[in-house]
Amino acid sequence: MGTDLVLFGAGGDLSHRKVLPALQALLARGEVDEPVRVIGSGRSELSRETFRDQLRRSPRTDRLAETAEWVTADPAAPDTYGAIRELTASTPTIVFYLATPPPTFGPIIDALARAGLAEHGNRRRRIVVEKPLGRDLASSRELNRKLRECFQEPQIFRIDHYLAKDTVQNVLAFRFSNSIFEAIWSRTLVQSVQITAAEAEGIGTRAGYYDAMGAVRDMLQNHVLQLLSLVAMEPPTTLDPADIRKAKLEVLRAVRPLDPAQAVRGQYDGYLDEADVPPSSRRETFAAAALTIENWRWDGVPIFVRTGKALRRRLTEVVIRFREAPQLRLDSRRQRPIPTVLTIRIQPEEGITLRIGAKLPGRRFEMVPAGMHLEYSRLSRAALPDAYEHVLSEVLAGGHTVFPGGDEIDRSWELVDPLIAAWESEGHPEPYRPGSWGPDGADELIQVHHGGRWVNPGEDTALTRSERAVLAGTAT
Ligand code: BG6
Repeated sequence: MGTDLVLFGAGGDLSHRKVLPALQALLARGEVDEPVRVIGSGRSELSRETFRDQLRRSPRTDRLAETAEWVTADPAAPDTYGAIRELTASTPTIVFYLATPPPTFGPIIDALARAGLAEHGNRRRRIVVEKPLGRDLASSRELNRKLRECFQEPQIFRIDHYLAKDTVQNVLAFRFSNSIFEAIWSRTLVQSVQITAAEAEGIGTRAGYYDAMGAVRDMLQNHVLQLLSLVAMEPPTTLDPADIRKAKLEVLRAVRPLDPAQAVRGQYDGYLDEADVPPSSRRETFAAAALTIENWRWDGVPIFVRTGKALRRRLTEVVIRFREAPQLRLDSRRQRPIPTVLTIRIQPEEGITLRIGAKLPGRRFEMVPAGMHLEYSRLSRAALPDAYEHVLSEVLAGGHTVFPGGDEIDRSWELVDPLIAAWESEGHPEPYRPGSWGPDGADELIQVHHGGRWVNPGEDTALTRSERAVLAGTAT
């Protein structure tokens, strides 16, 4: 009994930072039913010992070394895949994990099929592909076609690690197990929705990947649209992965393809000086867009999304702003409106805040912003599980809860393709200062078209530190 994890790109950054430590952690906690052996594979002529030494170098992967194997295999020479077949000949479950650059996916899948390793329909032969899946609709369709030709859908795992974040899964729990929220979740009461996925870091040493991709392909097409689909979808019939995928696809079908006139791209100052970035690169490191969902629930509700590198801080959140209540006259002057705002913080300081207006204690009838705050980390003593551990434990158990379906991915490309096409031929992106919230154009986008503004933490609609302390019961 046992599982072989055949890891393509095993020498790479993703494998050593995420995939292998996640596996070791799962094994250490006894959360995997069967023993798992790592088989690193790539074109390099590594010896088994050298690969084991690489694993021993980190305390997060050292325990995998003892049984690890290395197979030198080149998709351009499919015969080399015979060695994988021999090594795994008596293994019941084999997971092929492609932690390699996107252009290698097709050739590796072909080589696996030609070596007889794919076994169409055998659920104990699984393939895991990392995002980005394609670079536009045409290449995504081609990849999906190839995957489905060699494997059946239950054998295929397409990674979007945001779906495996606990707080992203909690969006489902929040919406569909609390009837009071579901009842107000529509155009009747929602005025606008904002989704921010901001990072403080620049691109670091990833120019080779990032400069070929940019913010739309790296984050918007996948993580941001997946988050949007969970926020906006209709209730699924059951919590079965197939029903959830169906509901997400439905809402993505109702999203109107993004309009370049309603979008802004930016590039942080200093991007062109990063190692290995071509000096004339026009690649966007920031993207913002206003979009609409043309269905019964969301018609007319503007939805704003933004994502970028080198921004003020790391922050992923969904902000739902509700319509203002009619303002009653009091003492012949109007109270300043305090809109109700629900913020779902995906990371960091995970939680949910409902910002409401309350009467300031005292004789006068004066309103102040106040809030109700759920601090996610207080729900359990255990630390939040790592998204990659969740992804991997699902793959090893053969479950599909945290994976998007191929049709959703195709549809998401269809939605962002107009931006990609327009921006390929346009001039330079708008510059922005590292540490800011992005280019001025992003503020104009929301102001000019919709008269609103981005909700940034620490600015008006977020709770103040003392309000948070009072709500958390830690005020002194
Ligand atoms: C990855 C992107 O998918 O997600 C990276 O390729 C990005 O560019 C990362 O930094 C962000 O993930 P997280 O979990 O740190 O928010």
